[in-house]
Amino acid sequence: MAKKLPGCRMLVLLCALWASLWEARAGQIRYSMPEEIDQGSFVGSIAKDLGLEPQALAERGARIVSRGRSQLFTLNPRSGNLITAGRIDREELCAQSAPCLVNFNLLLEDKLTIYSVEVEVTDVNDNAPRFGVEEPELKISETTTPGFRIPLKSAHDADVDENTLQKYELNSNDHFSLDVRTGADGNKYPELVLERALDREEEAVHHLVLVASDGGSPVRSGTCRIRVKVLDVNDNAPVFTQPEYRVSVPENMPVGTRILTVTATDPDEGYNAQVTYFQEQAPGEAAGVFELKSTSGDITITKGLDYEKAKFHEIDIEAQDGPGLLTRTKVIVTVLDVNDNAPEFYMTSATASVPEDSPPGTVIALFNVHDRDSGQNALVTCSFPEMLPFKLERSVDNYYRLVTTRALDREEFSFYNITLSAKDGGNPSLSTDTHLLLQVADINDNPPFFPRGSYSAYISENNPRGTSIFSVLAYDPDSNDNAHVTYSLAEDTFQGEPMSSYISINSDTGVLYALRSFDYEQFQDLQLWVIAVDSGNPPLSSNVSLSLFLVDQNDNMPEILYPALPTDGSTGVELAPRSADPGYLVTKVVAVDKDSGQNAWLSYRLLKASEPGLFSVGLHTGEVRTARALLDRDALKQSLVVSVQDHGQPPLSATVTLTIAVADNIPEVLADLGSIRTPANSDDSQLTLYLVVAVVVVSCVFLAFVIALLALRLRRWYMSRMLQASRDGLGVIPASHFVGVDGVRAFLQTYSHEVSLTADSRKSHIIFPQPNYADTLISQESCEKNDILSVAVFAKFPVHQTPKMFPFINRWFFYILILA
Ligand SMILES: *[C@@H]1O[C@H](CO)[C@@H](O)[C@H](O)[C@H]1NC(C)=O
Ligand SMILES: *[C@@H]1O[C@H](CO)[C@@H](O)[C@H](O)[C@H]1NC(C)=O
Repeated sequence: MAKKLPGCRMLVLLCALWASLWEARAGQIRYSMPEEIDQGSFVGSIAKDLGLEPQALAERGARIVSRGRSQLFTLNPRSGNLITAGRIDREELCAQSAPCLVNFNLLLEDKLTIYSVEVEVTDVNDNAPRFGVEEPELKISETTTPGFRIPLKSAHDADVDENTLQKYELNSNDHFSLDVRTGADGNKYPELVLERALDREEEAVHHLVLVASDGGSPVRSGTCRIRVKVLDVNDNAPVFTQPEYRVSVPENMPVGTRILTVTATDPDEGYNAQVTYFQEQAPGEAAGVFELKSTSGDITITKGLDYEKAKFHEIDIEAQDGPGLLTRTKVIVTVLDVNDNAPEFYMTSATASVPEDSPPGTVIALFNVHDRDSGQNALVTCSFPEMLPFKLERSVDNYYRLVTTRALDREEFSFYNITLSAKDGGNPSLSTDTHLLLQVADINDNPPFFPRGSYSAYISENNPRGTSIFSVLAYDPDSNDNAHVTYSLAEDTFQGEPMSSYISINSDTGVLYALRSFDYEQFQDLQLWVIAVDSGNPPLSSNVSLSLFLVDQNDNMPEILYPALPTDGSTGVELAPRSADPGYLVTKVVAVDKDSGQNAWLSYRLLKASEPGLFSVGLHTGEVRTARALLDRDALKQSLVVSVQDHGQPPLSATVTLTIAVADNIPEVLADLGSIRTPANSDDSQLTLYLVVAVVVVSCVFLAFVIALLALRLRRWYMSRMLQASRDGLGVIPASHFVGVDGVRAFLQTYSHEVSLTADSRKSHIIFPQPNYADTLISQESCEKNDILSVAVFAKFPVHQTPKMFPFINRWFFYILILA
């Protein structure tokens, strides 16, 4: 019998001893022993119980007889005690049956006496309850209703009675409780009871610990770890991470860019948590702008965004799990403006052409500048190159006016290519240029102008009619008709005839033509005005003076004034006194040339003489002088041929034949000539007196006459000069030119008297002028300057017209006529 009280092995052994003694008396020996004691442990004192000495037992041949069983016990022959032969496991020996008795027999060989021995092996709590599976897994759907029971595997304890399994305990948890049923066999069956609904999403696996314990001392227990897996049910729809998505995207985002990823999560698992995304097609413009990847939830741009078309887009998105639970969300895409639009010009009105006299402030163009961007990106500033005579005036609503700041000048700039620039305020900013072409229309604001203030032209005299003399060209900086210049000559008269009869001008080309052949001996220069007028409205004109100078040609032969060829067939005779010394001035050949300069520079040469070497002629003076003393053998009548030649190219010349009478006085001449047709006047002294008186008188008259004539001439010359100057430009022509050779003639005619009267009658020869006077004829210039003086010089030479009031002179001429 097992004792409940621990540690009282001695007491148990005493009791067992007492019992065996009692048994032995009854013929059967009984012992009791706990299991699992060591080999050789004392079980009972057999000798004592048989009433024998311990040694006697061996002597009597005591032995244990077992029927085919292994010996659990042996006898200790010295002590006569029954001891264990090995370790005894009650559970092996008897399993669950109780009590566990081991029966055998003891044979005393000497007397062949058999004793029955019974050993009870008592239980010791040496086994703990054990579960068949230590970590079982249970599966339970999350929708299982509370109260649901799940039978659990029982535990097993090999011990018996108190030492066997007594109770189950479950660790405390929220969802499960333990219920233990006791079967008909008394076995205990634990069951798991669902107390509260499960949620896989909350806790997918529950770990429970079931402890089975026995009633032994000490208590032994076994543990079973139960894993309860909650099976998923699609009880959750996907959920987006945000109730609404907002994203801002610059409009220049390239196509294909991912702008956002929407994510919906499904707390379920597996297929129930397999989320796919769908985009609800937006109507109209926004359609197809974005693409949603059904698996990843990535949203990408599939069409270029344009802030100017749509500032934001709304995308409706659905998320669906495998079995089909849905959730919706919305993505709002805000498009951000990017400075992708340059400003644009809208010409509302523009003038293509503006007259150059338009006042400052004339509006050239009105335009609008617009930028399709917004905000700073649409802030447009307008500009154009400075220096141009324009400015921009800002008007309402980005309208600008381009106005002139000053009067324009077509002659400076005939057109403007105005580059207008508009620049927005973006970063980087964009700009647009436009070109405005403005023609400046011509106004006839410039008269034609001649490059020079005056012109001079030279033309040789004797020009053919119609020769072009010169050409003038006037420029007009205006354009078209305003620059079309026509030429004309100013109305004028020259030498009493209209200027247009002398010269004409081609109105288109400005070429001047001579209408006549000009004669230098008539006039040396000509002053005229050329007028250039343009075809504008009103026309503008300017004029220029043109001085036309004639260039002399050698077209006049020298004209011999003295000695003149007589018109009536007679010729004068010069006297050379026989007593004359060499170098005596006999006479002087006087010639003029109407030309001027070289052409009028005369040289005198002796061509032929009847007595060579007797006379010489001054090359430039024309003076005929005796070359040697005259001899008696020299003939009375000498004849000389003198040529007068100018220095023109080619030179022109004239010749004159002189007759010189070599005689002391006229009567001698006459006598020598043998002519007695005229009676000689013997009373010469009387005559001389008369002559002196007459000369004085005539000289006085002559002086008065000369003074009066000079005064008259001067007055006329002065008047005509004033008149011409006031009428036209011809006033500048020197009056002396008009005097010329004609004037010389007139004076010669007038003064022939004086020449005649100065002759010394007593010497009966003529007093000739001083040679130096004649030299003044050489140049035209000096002729012009010393006009009056020259006239006086010429006047001293006689001409064939004889005044009637002086008969003696008549008579001399008479003689001369005879001589001839
Ligand atoms: C105006 O100027 C621009 C550039 O300066 C040039 O491209 C354009 O051809 C010009 N227009 C005319 C008509 O000359
Ligand atoms: C020439 O022009 C001036 C003004 O420039 C004018 O006074 C003058 O009368 C003009 N002369 C002629 C001959 O036309």
